[in-house]
Amino acid sequence: MGDFELPQSLHLALRGVRSVGVITGAGISAESGIPTYRGKGGIYDDPQEGDRTIEALSAHTLAADPDRTWRALFQIAGAAVAALPNEGHAAIAKIEDTADRFVLLTQNVDGLHRLAGSRNVIDIHGDAFEVICTVCGKANQFNDPRTGAMAPQRLDMQACMAAGKAPRCPCGGVYRPAVVLFGEMLPEDKIARLYAELLDSPPDLVISVGTSAMFPYIVQPMLVAASAGKLTIEINPEPTEISDFVAFHIKAKAGQALPAIAAALTDQHPEH
Ligand code: OAD
Repeated sequence: MGDFELPQSLHLALRGVRSVGVITGAGISAESGIPTYRGKGGIYDDPQEGDRTIEALSAHTLAADPDRTWRALFQIAGAAVAALPNEGHAAIAKIEDTADRFVLLTQNVDGLHRLAGSRNVIDIHGDAFEVICTVCGKANQFNDPRTGAMAPQRLDMQACMAAGKAPRCPCGGVYRPAVVLFGEMLPEDKIARLYAELLDSPPDLVISVGTSAMFPYIVQPMLVAASAGKLTIEINPEPTEISDFVAFHIKAKAGQALPAIAAALTDQHPEH
């Protein structure tokens, strides 16, 4: 990791960067052992199995057969609860400490950014550790042994996984995961923050890392920043939709490239 070299032209371009936006996807958590969605070894890799998972993680399956939705969700949450942040997550938290203005837009529901110390996070697809009752609307959480956030009124993930059924609220209603399922709208408050912090006045630097950039709300902040003359970087070993228009496509793992970028930004602001 430590010997990863950024191109000299990128070092120069990073000079004077004061505000930073970072957009992340499943690839940043791959080095923590969490499977990605698309591509080799991803949750949707096998086409038939993938389609079944997408079907299970949809709004209409939640309504018709919540146990099925939860079994698919437990795969994702079960991987998350066993994982710890990696050097990529840590580097993003360090960039936030260095920048005058910072925002992190993540599609991940694994909670690893907050565990690594990121603060201004827009988790646009929600959080796999949070649940909401479909009857009374009350929120609850799974115990999270990674943070030590354990309380008797919280849900025990291991027990729920072993039961293989939708967890239930004390009122008797079925809980739903606080994540955006297929066929559902994105939360309006998070869209408003995305506009305010990434689109209305794009940061000096916007980095996209570990995402296949399939969704317009992921591509758009990169496009807007690039057309406003801001610095754009993609970190992904594979090419994606956005590779052709970013200023720098770094074909490397997040855990290699992000610490080098964090170090370059910190060197300019030695007070941090
Ligand atoms: P994907 O699985 O679509 O893409 C992961 C990307 O990470 C791929 O482009 C990989 O090449 C790249 N990658 C893999 N390992 C990497 C590493 N070590 N460093 C950097 N990049 C790496 O995941 P997302 O783009 O996050 O939505 O998928 C977006 C959404 O699709 C997810 O949030 C999920 C899914 O349906 C919901 O659940 C609502």
